[in-house]
Amino acid sequence: MSSIHLDAAAGSIADAVLLPGDPLRAEHIATTLLERPLRVNGERNMLGFTGEWQGLRVSVLGTGMGIPSTLIYATELIQLHQVRRLVRLGTCGAIAPSLGLGDLVLATAAGTDSAVNRHRFGGMDLPAAADLRLTAAIAGAARRRGLPLATGTVFSTDLFHGGPPGLPGLLDRMGILAVEMEAAGLFALAAEHRVAAAALLTVSDHLVDQRRYGAQQRRTGLDDAARVALDALLAAAAGNPGSDPA
Ligand code: HPA
Repeated sequence: MSSIHLDAAAGSIADAVLLPGDPLRAEHIATTLLERPLRVNGERNMLGFTGEWQGLRVSVLGTGMGIPSTLIYATELIQLHQVRRLVRLGTCGAIAPSLGLGDLVLATAAGTDSAVNRHRFGGMDLPAAADLRLTAAIAGAARRRGLPLATGTVFSTDLFHGGPPGLPGLLDRMGILAVEMEAAGLFALAAEHRVAAAALLTVSDHLVDQRRYGAQQRRTGLDDAARVALDALLAAAAGNPGSDPA
């Protein structure tokens, strides 16, 4: 399989990758948080960079929005660039009334209204759970940074605009914390390929009371989450996910 959507050279992408939806967020993370960032992908302006976080080689690549776009990039990363750990770093719309703007949500599993997983699984429900060790590493990293984290299930929707009016209430009834658009596809793909995926989300808007982040906050407001995810990838690479050296 040739890489259709990545012009990254062989060996230029690290085995651990952060996946924000917005390519400009990928650039922001790489240029402000990573040491020696090098741009490794520019195809379709889906910016990708490789640099270092406390000595760990790590890449960050935009995915675009939604499961189809995300799976194009995740598939090519896994199959052609041997990526083994993927952390989606995104925004979400809060469902749980206790969540506020800027809060962090760590997904344990994702439901979806997308047909993609069923399509790949003979019409049946494919489990879409986050990797336990990588997710524990993220929880440990957030704890060490003193950042509170809401941990639980999320919902990956195909419809940012115009979903069924009763959906937020139904999701809340089922204990789902927040809505985003990618995790369910990413988790199921990672399981199929025996690689680890997790999703750390920042609340950018509230589906119940209509508060929302501005464009600049959406781009830069994820820095705390990015640092936590990078710490977690470092801990996971060292083989001690979830450990708390405090
Ligand atoms: N819906 C879907 N995805 C999102 C939302 C939303 O309200 N906010 C951030 N990502």
